[in-house]
Amino acid sequence: MSEKYHSETVEIRLAKPSHGERMADMSRRLIEEGLPWWCWTPKRIARVIRSPDTIAIVAVVGKKLVGFAVMHFDDEHAHLNLLAVEPPFRRRRIGCELLQWLEESCAVAGILSVSLEVRANNATAIRFYESLGYKKGERIAHYYCGKEAAQRMTRQLGREFS
Ligand SMILES: CC(C)(COP(=O)(O)OP(=O)(O)OC[C@H]1O[C@@H](n2cnc3c(N)ncnc32)[C@H](O)[C@@H]1OP(=O)(O)O)[C@@H](O)C(=O)NCCC(=O)NCCS
Repeated sequence: MSEKYHSETVEIRLAKPSHGERMADMSRRLIEEGLPWWCWTPKRIARVIRSPDTIAIVAVVGKKLVGFAVMHFDDEHAHLNLLAVEPPFRRRRIGCELLQWLEESCAVAGILSVSLEVRANNATAIRFYESLGYKKGERIAHYYCGKEAAQRMTRQLGREFS
């Protein structure tokens, strides 16, 4: 990563429909790479940006969108659908900031746990989630396009009040 990138401020904002194409491109290149078909197409991302049950956020440096995350909310549970940071901007805690931003929204919404699935061979992402308190759960065979296994991970955020 260049010093220039390193010294620039990162802003986390709500995603707009106009970010959909770029987020979908990042998903294909950085998350879905090598899978037989593209699940998170521009159309699908545009739909989730507009959905009342989903929060989509972007990390911006200057005018460049360098990271994004999408989380779906149920009553007491949230599911992280997507999270990625462009390679030149990694290891400067942008992934961490995106996830913590969403977890703060979870706390406000009374969400008790967050789960996600990650490609089982994605050791970097698994280490990243473990560093943020996520625990490995079941391994789900053929989860991605009927081909690749997923590792489910979960973090408990709070306790139910009795
Ligand atoms: C996973 C990903 C989002 C992490 O983003 P990031 O901004 O680089 O992560 P952060 O800088 O916030 O890292 C936080 C901590 O996670 C761990 N971590 C992150 N990347 C790591 C790596 N390559 N190796 C080991 N630990 C790592 C470290 O503990 C790190 O803290 P440290 O830098 O102080 O040691 C990024 O690597 C990515 O976009 N990967 C491709 C897409 C993907 O796999 N998404 C997740 C599945 S949906």
